[in-house]
Amino acid sequence: MTQSITRIRPDDWHLHLRDGAMLAGIAPETARHFARAIIMPNLVPPVVRGADADGYRKRILATTGPDFTPLMTLYLTEETDPADVVAAHKAGIITAVKMYPAGATTNSASGVRDFDRVRGVLEAMAEAGIPLLCHGEVTDHSVDIFDREAVFIDRVLDPIRRATPALRVVMEHITTSDAVAYVRSQPENLGATITTHHLVINRNHILVGGIKPHYYCLPVAKRETHRVALVDAATSGDARFFLGTDSAPHTDDAKENACGCAGCFTATNTLSILAHVFEEAGALDKLEGFTSRNGPEFYRLPVNTGTLTLEKSVTPISYPAKIETGVGPVTVFDPGFPLFWRVL
Ligand code: DOR
Ligand code: ZN
Repeated sequence: MTQSITRIRPDDWHLHLRDGAMLAGIAPETARHFARAIIMPNLVPPVVRGADADGYRKRILATTGPDFTPLMTLYLTEETDPADVVAAHKAGIITAVKMYPAGATTNSASGVRDFDRVRGVLEAMAEAGIPLLCHGEVTDHSVDIFDREAVFIDRVLDPIRRATPALRVVMEHITTSDAVAYVRSQPENLGATITTHHLVINRNHILVGGIKPHYYCLPVAKRETHRVALVDAATSGDARFFLGTDSAPHTDDAKENACGCAGCFTATNTLSILAHVFEEAGALDKLEGFTSRNGPEFYRLPVNTGTLTLEKSVTPISYPAKIETGVGPVTVFDPGFPLFWRVL
């Protein structure tokens, strides 16, 4: 008998859609399956003011149509005006604010260098109930890239949370058992997104047997013990952990390059991969919480009314190896094992 599961339509709580021809090429990959997504603001130039977010939201909707809801974010800079943030939130234009430590990742040059300089914005956000979404890595060159998330928790995140305890915070795309433990130790106004790819790959996948640029992302995948801790968190049913794919398209020529860009493009096959990972963990019953319930609960939004059905086939499913866009092909994340769950 064919196995199938029908669950509440999922949301993606961390997504890069880019702009222009890339947006047009890749947005349908998410809109096909997901009802809503938190849209990252690291465009060039970044989405820094409410008016920028409103324009970007309209460009996304023109591509996806009204069945998909982009939940917009602003890019926090040391010049961000608290009044603009609060007004954009009040007007329903933005859902959250993203904080990139300057230089931490793709298009983060306008991010924050001195966290004391954004204190006023963070306080205004705490008061207005606007979540802060953190790229959780320090950029200090003396800190090893594999340690940058753990050091961020001690040096940046924990001090921010102590100074502004009412601020609702999401640690984005966590990659370490340290982050899992920190989230578990904190009150419920701290949540964390986990990506699809960090549930599947460890650092060996990137580096053993030749360098694999399509597995390179930031924060970089860590050792296997950390991947296991992420699977445990995602499949535990703890509502503080929810899906944020961080699906981040770059064209193949930008990835397969002497200085390749960070980002894994998982929008196309994320749900098939997640069903596989949750089934392997004996936790298919926890998949709906992770993809469809825990995120809205954290963001204080209703769960979706629609449903999505996954069906398990006997033979491996096929999916495109690349998505063609007007700026070039984008390679779809290869989990390294056959997939059997298909979205109907
Ligand atoms: O791998 C990543 N890619 N991590 C990020 O933080 C940014 C993203 C991108 O925009 O390409
Ligand atoms: Zn991201």
